[in-house]
Amino acid sequence: MNPTIVLKEKTFELYLSEEEILDKIKSLAAQLNEDFKNQRPVFLVVLNGSVMLAADLLKEITIECDLSFVKLASYSGTQSSGDVRTLMGLHDDIKDRVVVVIEDIVDTGLTLTELMIQILKQYPKEIRVLTFLRKSQATKYHVQLDYIGFEVPNVFLVGYGLDINGQGRNLRDIYQLKK
Ligand code: XMP
Ligand code: MG
Repeated sequence: MNPTIVLKEKTFELYLSEEEILDKIKSLAAQLNEDFKNQRPVFLVVLNGSVMLAADLLKEITIECDLSFVKLASYSGTQSSGDVRTLMGLHDDIKDRVVVVIEDIVDTGLTLTELMIQILKQYPKEIRVLTFLRKSQATKYHVQLDYIGFEVPNVFLVGYGLDINGQGRNLRDIYQLKK
C-alpha cells in the first residue's frame, strides 16, 4: 500500500520517493555542470521551498559558482493567494552575471514572473531557470523554464521543502494530497 501521512488534519500519500528525487537531482546537476562550465553562474535559490533541493543539487555541482538567496511567498494553506510578497529581496550583485534561478515548484507562474522582474532590474548577463516540479495544467503566466525535474499533476504537494502552512518541509519524500 502507498504510504500516507497526516499534516494539518489532511491525508497525503507518497508521490515521489527520496531515491527518485536524488536520481533526478544528479541528472539535473550533471547538465548544469556541463552547460555552465567556465561561466561561474550565480545560483539564486528561492526560499523557503527550495532549501532541500538547493542543498542536494549544490552538493553535485562541481563547477565554480556563487550562491544567493531571495525569499518570496504566495501560498496560504493549499492555494495560491494570487499575491507575491518579497520577504527578502535580491541583495548580491548580479550585474553582468549568469543567474540560474533554483525553484521548487512552478504552479501558476506568478512567483517566477515577479522574481524575473526583480532580477532584470539588476542587469544580469543571462537568466536561466530550473524548477524541480512544474504543474503544467495550472500555468497561467508564461514563464521561461530551462530545466524541469518532473511534470506533476495539479494537486497540492508537501515534503522536501514544500509545506502546508509551514509543516512538512523536512520530509525526505514528496507527498500528494489524497482525494
Ligand atoms: P505560483 O503559482 O506563483 O506558485 O507559480 C509557486 C509557489 O507557490 C508554492 N506552491 C506550492 N507549495 N505545495 C507547496 O507546498 C504545492 O503544491 C505548491 N504549489 C505551489 C511554492 O512556494 C512555489 O514557489
Ligand atoms: Mg517556492
